[in-house]
Amino acid sequence: MARILNYSEESIEYCAEALLNGHLVSFPTETVYGLGANALDASALEKIFLAKGRPKSDPLIVHISSLFQAESLTEMPPFQRQCFDILGKAFWPGPLTLIVKASNIVPRIVTAGGESIAIRIPLGRVVQELLEKANIPIAAPSANRFGHVSPTTAQHVFDDLGSYPDLLILDHSNFCEIGIESTVVKIYEDNRILILRPGSISSLQIKKILEENKIFTEIDIVKRAVKLNKNAIEETSGLDSPGQLLTHYAPSIEAFIIKNDYVNGDFFQTFSRELLGQSVVIDFHSKNKNLEKQALCYLDLSVSGSVSEASRNLFSYLRKAEAIEKSKYILLPNLSFENSEEMGAIFDRIYRAASGKFIQIN
Ligand code: TXA
Ligand code: MG
Repeated sequence: MARILNYSEESIEYCAEALLNGHLVSFPTETVYGLGANALDASALEKIFLAKGRPKSDPLIVHISSLFQAESLTEMPPFQRQCFDILGKAFWPGPLTLIVKASNIVPRIVTAGGESIAIRIPLGRVVQELLEKANIPIAAPSANRFGHVSPTTAQHVFDDLGSYPDLLILDHSNFCEIGIESTVVKIYEDNRILILRPGSISSLQIKKILEENKIFTEIDIVKRAVKLNKNAIEETSGLDSPGQLLTHYAPSIEAFIIKNDYVNGDFFQTFSRELLGQSVVIDFHSKNKNLEKQALCYLDLSVSGSVSEASRNLFSYLRKAEAIEKSKYILLPNLSFENSEEMGAIFDRIYRAASGKFIQIN
């Protein structure tokens, strides 16, 4: 069985020791809980994939405590090096992951056999103290069962991975203040930059810092390589980031996005009003408040319309919704018309929780 340990100096020491001995430790970061192992110990890394049920084709983010620690893990050509230093200095510690060329000391299981490594210096007392105490790079995906909603509390981790033997979960209440995962940015050798996963750090912020440092390059944002047909079948070939499958963050019951506007050619299913009694409505800024009375349960990500509050609440509300007795459906808000990139990052998770399925209620 896994064990939850309350944060203290002793528990940090105990967990650092466990990591050095090849065990798994789950810890809170400013984004979500990570499931960590020593990034230089291939057999410890195997356990991450086993515990999560994650395919080995999906590479891991390596967490470090200083820019200096990236030296031995990378072999960056000039453009990568320049951008890495600028962006690292500007945004770390913080919710940004940078992908650059890996050195050959990095076990191939970290890079899923590829040439590049994802690196991040996370923010948050627990993870920083753990990194310092263990004094090793820590590879860590989000600490959920593969494909399930990312965890933002120690209990969420326990609910998904509690049966894994010897797993230690460091608990620090109210710690994942951002609540969605880091922005993942790939820096190519040939002067290109691509955002593989949107997060709270936007392409505009990244572009601005680079331009201040005289780097003028287009920043592309990966488009979902997805075509929906009637059964919401996904096409995921040719993705740059293997973890960017459409069905991700999926709650254990079916989720849909409520369409409020009809654009010609849009595909949606109709959803009978009678099913509202078996549905948990997760709303934003009272958009669908008219459904409150008929719904089995109604939750609002942020009544005041705060993006950061919505981001912090999203994953725990999805988990809350799937756990409500008799709930069969989760109905989510359509935020695709909100034109802030931060909101785009939240809607990315909503879209994937619903596997891109839109409904109209009648
Ligand atoms: O906020 C976060 O990033 C959290 C915390 C724990 O740091 N971690 C996290 O890890 O979300 P994970 O494994 O759940 O998501 C990492 C994403 C995956 O989609 C993975 O495919 C992608 O980053 N990734 C990792 N290494 C990569 C690489 N070398 N090339 C391309 N994509 C990579
Ligand atoms: Mg994940």
